[in-house]
Amino acid sequence: MKIILLGPPGSGKGTVSERLEKDCGFFHLSAGELLREEVAKKTTIGKEIQSYINKGELAPSKFVVELVKLEVRKKDNYILDGFPRSLEQAKQIEGLKVDAVVLMDVSEEVVIERFAGRRICEKSGHGYHIKYLPPKKAGICDVDGSKLVQRADDKPEVIKKRFVVYHKETQPLINYYEKKKLLHRVDASKKPEDVYNEVKKALKLKNKKR
Ligand code: AP5
Repeated sequence: MKIILLGPPGSGKGTVSERLEKDCGFFHLSAGELLREEVAKKTTIGKEIQSYINKGELAPSKFVVELVKLEVRKKDNYILDGFPRSLEQAKQIEGLKVDAVVLMDVSEEVVIERFAGRRICEKSGHGYHIKYLPPKKAGICDVDGSKLVQRADDKPEVIKKRFVVYHKETQPLINYYEKKKLLHRVDASKKPEDVYNEVKKALKLKNKKR
């Protein structure tokens, strides 16, 4: 199954994707993570991408679209987390099959307090929250024992800009996928466990056999 996760910054796209990857065997592709990996390599392209991320703006589609297409080729089950993020990007992947689009529906007021407590693994990008999804040991990633850090773009002024960009560029996709009868709305203001179960129910997903 090929799924797109759509939603404002902090709506829980990464959190749900990580669980779907673990429980149902999806390949999780986070566009933001892919770009942060490119930044970490300190290549010329990486430096250019960093300037967009740090300002809370979208990186140019020419970098993102080709990277994503390359990652998902030959994969049958994947989640695109945070991609596409504009009508321009959606049109550029019209040849890619999409089975369902999940909208993580939540207000700005609810998600804003999630940012201060967000921590990510500095090595693998796994996400946590100090109150809502704490790691077993404070400051340490459960998965690989690396240090947990705050994201460089989780500063109040950058978060504000990310919301502006979301409303302008990404929200039109709701209508776009609704017209294609692919959209499933999920109430993403609930507890992480409840949101996760709602997504699974909407997509009729079952855990993989172990
Ligand atoms: P990206 O990394 O995709 O950031 P984002 O879309 O702003 O989303 P976030 O990662 O902030 O939030 P999320 O919805 O994944 O929530 P999470 O699960 O972490 O993109 C970053 C940047 O990269 C962009 O600004 C842009 O510059 C660039 N970029 C990315 N994609 C691009 C594209 N396609 N084209 C161009 N540029 C692109 O949850 C947030 C926190 O809340 C966590 O701490 C979590 O533990 C906690 N939490 C999760 N669910 C709940 C819950 N239900 N209740 C309470 N807490 C919760």
